[in-house]
Amino acid sequence: MTRPIRIAPSILAANFSRLGQEVTDVVAAGADWIHLDIMDGHFVPNISFGPDVVKALRPLTDATFDCHLMITPADPFLEAFAKAGSDIITVHAEAGPHLNRSLQAIRGLGKKAGVSINPATPESAIEYVLEHVDLILVMSVNPGFGGQRYLPSVTDKIRRIHKMIGDRPIELEVDGGITAETIGIPSEAGINVFVAGSSIYKGDGLDDYRRNIEAIRQAAEKARE
Ligand code: DX5
Ligand code: ZN
Repeated sequence: MTRPIRIAPSILAANFSRLGQEVTDVVAAGADWIHLDIMDGHFVPNISFGPDVVKALRPLTDATFDCHLMITPADPFLEAFAKAGSDIITVHAEAGPHLNRSLQAIRGLGKKAGVSINPATPESAIEYVLEHVDLILVMSVNPGFGGQRYLPSVTDKIRRIHKMIGDRPIELEVDGGITAETIGIPSEAGINVFVAGSSIYKGDGLDDYRRNIEAIRQAAEKARE
């Protein structure tokens, strides 16, 4: 089963003084999804934005809102992010003691459920929730900041997770340090959804974003040949 390649720009790297324009530009430039990095300054050492920003961006595009919750606890905020217009809500396996319950709660809100694991977390942390997820997000950097380098140590884990999920209808997503130079590695290992912030929001507006998205999409496709 070949899962379609999807490019998901992370708006953490966007120009926050014109966030709405940055979202519509990157969608016009060919983005498949919008990756929304929610950070609470507790689970990760950075604070980004909350459900009200997601709600403000929602009417601007029909693109899938891929909401990455780097927060703990996550459960008290699931409904707010669902109501704000997220299509996929991803929680970290490390963010709380009841991952199975969190994932079922997301689906109970009518949204797709995702689980994310940090670079040091083994894939065994998610092997008992595969029936409750629509997406697995493998972190290829330590979460909290854009502009970091891809950690090669996660590549073998991606390969093992790709094997673990088999033909299940689960999107396999990587996040962190994805550029035209690095994307071939996770693509060859089985990833089909690529989050990229700094390598897409490079330059100044739509034409640059289109070039950047094209470059990483082509590199991801080439690695599958
Ligand atoms: C990091 C975030 C990533 C990050 C990606 O905690 O989850 O989505 O914004 O940024 P780049 O592509 O610059 O590594
Ligand atoms: Zn992210």
